[in-house]
Amino acid sequence: MDPEEMLRSLDLERRRGLDLIEAAATLDELEAAQVEVMGRRSPFSAVQKSLGALPPDDRKRVGQAANEVRGALQDALAVRAELLQHLAEDALLEADRLDMSLPGRSPRVGSFHPLTIVEREAVEVFTSLGFRVAEGPEVEDDWHNFQALNIPPDHPARTMKDSLYVNVPGRPELLLRTETSAVQIRTMQSQPPPVFVVAPGRVYRRETPDPTHLPVFQQIEGLAVDEGITFADLKGTLDVFVKAMFGERRRIRLGPAFFPFVEPGCEVGVSCFRCDGAGCRVCGTGWIELLGAGMVHPVVLENCGYDPERYTGFAFGLGIERVALLRYEISDIRLLVDGDVRLLEQFQGVV
Ligand code: DAH
Repeated sequence: MDPEEMLRSLDLERRRGLDLIEAAATLDELEAAQVEVMGRRSPFSAVQKSLGALPPDDRKRVGQAANEVRGALQDALAVRAELLQHLAEDALLEADRLDMSLPGRSPRVGSFHPLTIVEREAVEVFTSLGFRVAEGPEVEDDWHNFQALNIPPDHPARTMKDSLYVNVPGRPELLLRTETSAVQIRTMQSQPPPVFVVAPGRVYRRETPDPTHLPVFQQIEGLAVDEGITFADLKGTLDVFVKAMFGERRRIRLGPAFFPFVEPGCEVGVSCFRCDGAGCRVCGTGWIELLGAGMVHPVVLENCGYDPERYTGFAFGLGIERVALLRYEISDIRLLVDGDVRLLEQFQGVV
């Protein structure tokens, strides 16, 4: 072979060799590349074999070039081999890997209590009708809780059986309010008519807890007083309320009832959401009693300094727990105050 040709071949083989080594993606491919560029049948070997036939000067020149190319290829092979070795080990480790991670701990998200949901919603319905929210103290005196509401001294509601008295020396008339109706009195005393208020709040009764009773529960009291307020206004207001809370298909029914602070007084029922008024095991008659209401008694207006000849009004009182029990089909009122997270968590996302 001609020495110049041999040098060209070496040059070519260096570049070809380096490319092949670089392209090898596995150790097997690298071995094949090595055989290809430096093996017995490679052009590089052919050059080496021909060296012996060259004159000494050319042999030295071409021999040096050949050594250089061999060195370069061997270095490249070593570098590539080490890299592919690492990659192979990594792949092995990755394939052997066991996922021992545990699911992350996410904090529990709270929710609104069903009583809060019902109270807010009910208040919202009334405020959208133009009522504003009024408040009164939970410790009341006998006059606001009873006398002003036309509850005579011998009325059974006043006895120790129903009421919880507060032990404040010298103030025997103090008790925990038994109904939010007391707020009616305080509101009328604090402002002239017209009055349109709702008063949500806790009330207290001497009661042993059972599936339908709690000694502490919540009510929403409503009061509207102005010139010309009629029973029809009461009925319309409650109809809007019931439809908003229980659905457009619900109807209300009013029946006679006695409460000392209204005349006439009535009990308001809603058509059963289960049977739509036909009668079922939930309601019996097709109707579910929901609240008490009536036209504010003239004596009550007078007690608050309002002229009963000029003003009329309606009032109603609604149990928040009762609405929650009906709406969410909860069978025992005590579940609402047990604080059991299994109940509460069912209201996640309900606002
Ligand atoms: N205060 C009554 C109760 O606790 C509910 C009630 C009935 C309130 C009739 C009213 C009403 O304002 O007019 O059972």
